[in-house]
Amino acid sequence: MPFRTRYTGLIDKYRDRLPVHDDTRIISLGEGNTPLVRLHNIPRMLGKDVDIYIKYEGLNPTGSFKDRGMTLAVTKAVEEGSKAIICASTGNTSAAAAAYAARAGITAFVLIPDGKIALGKLAQAMMHGAVVIQIKGNFDAGMQLVKEVGEDAPVTIVNSINPFRIQGQKTAAFEILEELGSAPDFHCIPVGNAGNITAHWMGYTEYHEHGIVNSRPRMVGYQAAGSAPFMRGKMVDEPETVATAIRIGHPQSWDKAWKVQKESNGWFDECTDETILAAQKLLAEEEGIFCEPASATSLAGAMQDIETGKIPEGSKIVCTLTGHGLKDPDTAIRQSAAPVKAVEATLEQVKAIILDNLK
Ligand code: F0G
Repeated sequence: MPFRTRYTGLIDKYRDRLPVHDDTRIISLGEGNTPLVRLHNIPRMLGKDVDIYIKYEGLNPTGSFKDRGMTLAVTKAVEEGSKAIICASTGNTSAAAAAYAARAGITAFVLIPDGKIALGKLAQAMMHGAVVIQIKGNFDAGMQLVKEVGEDAPVTIVNSINPFRIQGQKTAAFEILEELGSAPDFHCIPVGNAGNITAHWMGYTEYHEHGIVNSRPRMVGYQAAGSAPFMRGKMVDEPETVATAIRIGHPQSWDKAWKVQKESNGWFDECTDETILAAQKLLAEEEGIFCEPASATSLAGAMQDIETGKIPEGSKIVCTLTGHGLKDPDTAIRQSAAPVKAVEATLEQVKAIILDNLK
């Protein structure tokens, strides 16, 4: 078809690189094709000659990168005749599972850690009609239960251990390569279960092997310091971090992620909660980009490594921002200045505030 500029979603666009058939019923909400935004102000503030791009995955339909994997996982579940899907989640997977299940007309069961999920994500799962099962345990306990349930119940697991999730998520790397015309030098990404770092490497590798680009980036995975099994070299039993999305101590893609680190000549590092929140605020205030705390881990980590020169000047860097800031309004409000106290609705009082606050 000539002049085809509008795709219905990433399966439609990358059909020849994904495991679907011509007659597969595609379950899509128009995911993918997210903005790659070049940062202007933060590199200047760092005083370093670096080119930083943000892949703004928070602009997917349910507000996170999970939609890339979920469109394919649910499409395949429906194709295989499944009537229900299940996942454990720190929030974003549950939101995506709930939405795509609604679209497909099937049931979503989601296991979430009681009290440790950002409000926006809970609202999404509830609004889309998922069966929300709150457990008195963390993500890792939920994941274990989901695997056990999946052994005999007629439900499809849609966590990133489902290989279709990874296939769908690899398309983020395709988009970056198409837009930049070549691979960045470094790709910085937050790591929880390590499914997404694995998916990106798969995408970069496929375009490289097909000769579409002639290099691949070094993959750098950042974890929150209180939930950093890749830094400890072993599983962490009581993970803690303000970045609840990556509050994971037993990553499901442990071996795959180490392979990515070795093959790409990359590394893992950790960021404190303070530096994560500072990066989140910096992006919002200096670049107009609002992401959730876990997402800001990629920039927080990149800034650390730019500072020390581990990421050298002259580098082209892509940081994935995995989820939208509106997912976690509580954390955003907690770290922002309170609004100006309410005033009378008079021109005089409003004007006084404006004059006080002009930059
Ligand atoms: N960033 C956000 C916003 C996430 O929600 C997640 C994972 C990650 C990063 C880490 O990605 O697990 O592929 O390394 N969230 C999952 C969930 C665990 O349940 O929503 P990963």
